[in-house]
Amino acid sequence: MSELKPETRAEPLPNGFELTELNPDFLRDPHPILDRLREEAPQHVHAHAHFPDAPGGLYLTRLEDVRAIFADASYQRDPRQTPPGSLARAFAPPAMLAPEPHGNLLYLDGAQHRRARGLVSRAFTPKAIAQKRPAIEAIAADLLERAAQKPDFDAISEFAAPYPIYVIGDMLGFPRDGMPQFRAWSEDLVFIFNPLRTPEQDQRQIAAYTGLQSLFSEEIARRRRDPSDDLLTAIMAARDEAGDALSEPEIISLLMLLLLAGNLTTADAIGNGLHALMTHPGEWAALVADPSLAVPATEEFLRFGPPVAISARYVPEDRPILGCPVRQGAAVVLSLLGANRDPEAFEDPHAFRIRRGRRDHVAFGGGAHACLGAPLARLEIEIALSVLAARYPGMRLAAPAVRDRPTIGFVGFRELRLSLG
Ligand code: HEM
Repeated sequence: MSELKPETRAEPLPNGFELTELNPDFLRDPHPILDRLREEAPQHVHAHAHFPDAPGGLYLTRLEDVRAIFADASYQRDPRQTPPGSLARAFAPPAMLAPEPHGNLLYLDGAQHRRARGLVSRAFTPKAIAQKRPAIEAIAADLLERAAQKPDFDAISEFAAPYPIYVIGDMLGFPRDGMPQFRAWSEDLVFIFNPLRTPEQDQRQIAAYTGLQSLFSEEIARRRRDPSDDLLTAIMAARDEAGDALSEPEIISLLMLLLLAGNLTTADAIGNGLHALMTHPGEWAALVADPSLAVPATEEFLRFGPPVAISARYVPEDRPILGCPVRQGAAVVLSLLGANRDPEAFEDPHAFRIRRGRRDHVAFGGGAHACLGAPLARLEIEIALSVLAARYPGMRLAAPAVRDRPTIGFVGFRELRLSLG
């Protein structure tokens, strides 16, 4: 881990609000700010703008430091383990503060997390995902065929956003005719992640949660009567060595997590990456000439434009971190955006090069909570790229991309108009 830097400049370092996507400068280009923090204060004491009474935490921007915290299992994610007033409690959805067992891996620690993750991993295997390649290719091609009938199309609302929703719905074995409703609920569910949501967004997220809850219960009941060859049946059937299985409430919260963790992120990865390709025409031409570059390009999408900007871990007891005293319950904010552009780790880090193909970025986090859906996300991005490069070599930006999507912690475009050529 890095040493504490003794000297700081007189000009105050950015803090709190300035380090969120709600700050227009940060939203437009976070990297000058993150570069400065990494250079001048790699372990920056961070006061949270919206929860000023919570203990001040650290904001880490170096790849090595971010990796070290991810790898250290003593840090917490379960808000119930943290003291009153912690940021973990402030940010957690209310159900994650209740004592009842749930299957939302992101909010579990230790043995509870290992049990739930072990069970779902038996169903959601890389092999099961790889078998879905033809189905995913068909979904991508179908969405693009519809889009291609227009002179230009919004690559977010007409492709990147629905694509992962239809893929996970298909994997889970949900009925095709229910997909438009499933899409609408899945899109509204993400407001859960925004602690600053408006009352209207709050209503939509509650309605989406309730609607999805009854859909999931019905689908579970249907499979009890009539098991099928799909991911939901496999999750329900998963047993560990002791014969233990996930309960129905655990399965329902796990399914919510699959939607919450997988949809917006994959859509943003595709949107951010396509924008990078369209603004680096030489890289697009290289991909069109050699579609096998879709594999390393996927990694560069994730390194260069990671959809999850930050992650956090909570400090289990007062302790020094990188030489800074940090209080119990404080958040260590891990800047995935910053770490993925660390010049110590990546040569010329602000250059977008699809041949770079480095998989050691932290777009998928790390340690015990490393993204469970990474193999699926990689496959979806690679297929999207291959289909686009093969069918639409003349694709280009049709209008300036629109960024202003106010969600803390997620980076993506609201609108990306492309002409398919
Ligand atoms: C490009 C797309 C994706 C990105 C960038 C991404 C990113 C991440 C990150 C950073 C974490 C760790 C968060 C933390 O430790 O604080 C995570 C966890 C997780 N992701 Fe993804 N994700 C993506 C796609 C998916 C997909 C498609 C799924 C499933 C359908 C998924 C399911 C999960 C789950 C279940 C976890 C929680 C794992 C645990 O806590 O043990 N993700 N993801």
